[in-house]
Amino acid sequence: MAQAFILGEEFIGTDSVAMVLGDNIFYGSGFGQFLKEAVEVSEKGNCSLFGYYVQDPERFGIVEFDPNGKVLSVEEKPEHPKSNYCITGLYFYDNSVVEKAKGLKPSKRGELEITDLNRLYLEEDKLHVQVLGRGFAWLDTGTMDSLVDAADFVRTLEKRQGLKISAIEEIAYNKAWITKDELIEAAKRYGKSPYGQHLMAVAEGKILY
Ligand code: G1P
Repeated sequence: MAQAFILGEEFIGTDSVAMVLGDNIFYGSGFGQFLKEAVEVSEKGNCSLFGYYVQDPERFGIVEFDPNGKVLSVEEKPEHPKSNYCITGLYFYDNSVVEKAKGLKPSKRGELEITDLNRLYLEEDKLHVQVLGRGFAWLDTGTMDSLVDAADFVRTLEKRQGLKISAIEEIAYNKAWITKDELIEAAKRYGKSPYGQHLMAVAEGKILY
C-alpha cells in the first residue's frame, strides 16, 4: 500500500497527503472536525492516524498506547496483539512520506507495509493517533463477512431514519460549495429514487441536523 506514495510522487509534488483505503467506511457525527485536525497535524510535519477498538485485532495494524495515551508501538497483524486498538485505513502524512516509502523493504506478503511507514514516523516522534470513540462506526469491507456486516449497518440506519449516509451533494451544499439550485438539479437527476428524494428534502430545509 505504501507503494502508492512512490507511484503518486509526481501528483503529490510538494504537498502533504492523505490516503484512504477503498474498503473502509467511517460513520460518526463530528468526523469532519477530526479530518480538519488531522490535516493540520500532518501539515506540521507529522503523520496523523485514527485508532478504533476492535475485537479481532490480529486482522489489522495495531497501535499500543501507554497509560497516558502516548503511542508505544505499531504492528501489522500481530499474532499476539498488544492492544485492541487498530489503525484504520485513513492516513495523513507530511511530504516526507514519499522519501520514507522509497526506503521500505517488502514484507513477507510482498507489500510495502503502511505500518512500517507509520513506524518511521513513530521513531521520529511524529506519529499522532486520534481514537474514534464509541459513538463512531468504522467498518471494513475487505472480506465477505465484513462486507455483509457493513451492509447491515448501513441498511439499518438508512431504514430507521430514511437519511442517507455520505450523500456528497448534501455535504457540498451544507459546506456552501454548491448552491441550492445546483442541489435541486442534482436531486432531479436521481428522479424519484430515495436518494433523489433525500436531496430534495435537504434542499427544502426539511433535514436540519
Ligand atoms: C490494511 C493495513 C492495516 C489496516 C487495515 C485497515 O490491511 O495494512 O494496517 O489496519 O488496512 O483496513 P489490509 O487491508 O492490507 O489487510
